[in-house]
Amino acid sequence: MRVDVFFGPTSFAPGDVAGRVVAVIDVLRASTTIAVALANGAKAVLPMDDADEALTRARTLERADTRLAGERRMATIPGFDFGNSPREFTAEAVEGKTIVMTTTNGTVSLTAVQGARDVVVASYVNFSAILAMLRAAARGGSDLAIICAGRDRRFSLEDAACAGRYVRQIAKRVPEIELSDAALACSMVDRRYGDDLTRLFQDSEHGKALVAAGFADDLSLCASLDAYSVVPVYSDRQITRLGPDRSR
Ligand code: MLT
Repeated sequence: MRVDVFFGPTSFAPGDVAGRVVAVIDVLRASTTIAVALANGAKAVLPMDDADEALTRARTLERADTRLAGERRMATIPGFDFGNSPREFTAEAVEGKTIVMTTTNGTVSLTAVQGARDVVVASYVNFSAILAMLRAAARGGSDLAIICAGRDRRFSLEDAACAGRYVRQIAKRVPEIELSDAALACSMVDRRYGDDLTRLFQDSEHGKALVAAGFADDLSLCASLDAYSVVPVYSDRQITRLGPDRSR
């Protein structure tokens, strides 16, 4: 078994994910927002590459049961119901709704994954739930790929740290797993920050950009380790909750 980490939606080839169990991470903020929306009762999240695709897809759905969500440069797309702040996705706002969503890096990284065995959406807020699933897959002999959505197609510190936390925790229990250099490097980033996610976000470019854009409160939510036990699974172009989980 092997675990690889990739940075950005264009950093991996079909063969890097085919047949593997894949975790997609966009800690700030798409993967956190997706976890929160599903934990708060959203029926499904449909990831889209751009606003036009999202609008076209939404038109095929019942308006009363559908919400459009998305950001560009962190701001809500004009005419959409929500942006990409996890604080918007309360139970009151999303329970029973299908969320059609497009974000700059997160949703694009998800739709880029083709041919994987399973795809899950990972973050700090649902860390342990996803870890249990990835560990079980590794124990069962599956290769793993972790896709860090990154920032504008590039490396981002917070996704690498979160990926590294998964790598380290998997390797602790499945010591025979082989790590790529990227996986090893990410585990070193995680070791540097440990549980100090506040400092991690303060150091990261996107963390700083979110604060400057008025989203400082999102950072504390994105740092709420294991606040939810939801496992978002991406299959047939939609993300749904695995099992009956409704922990919050
Ligand atoms: C993204 O997909 O690039 C983001 O999640 C950006 C953000 O809204 O913070």
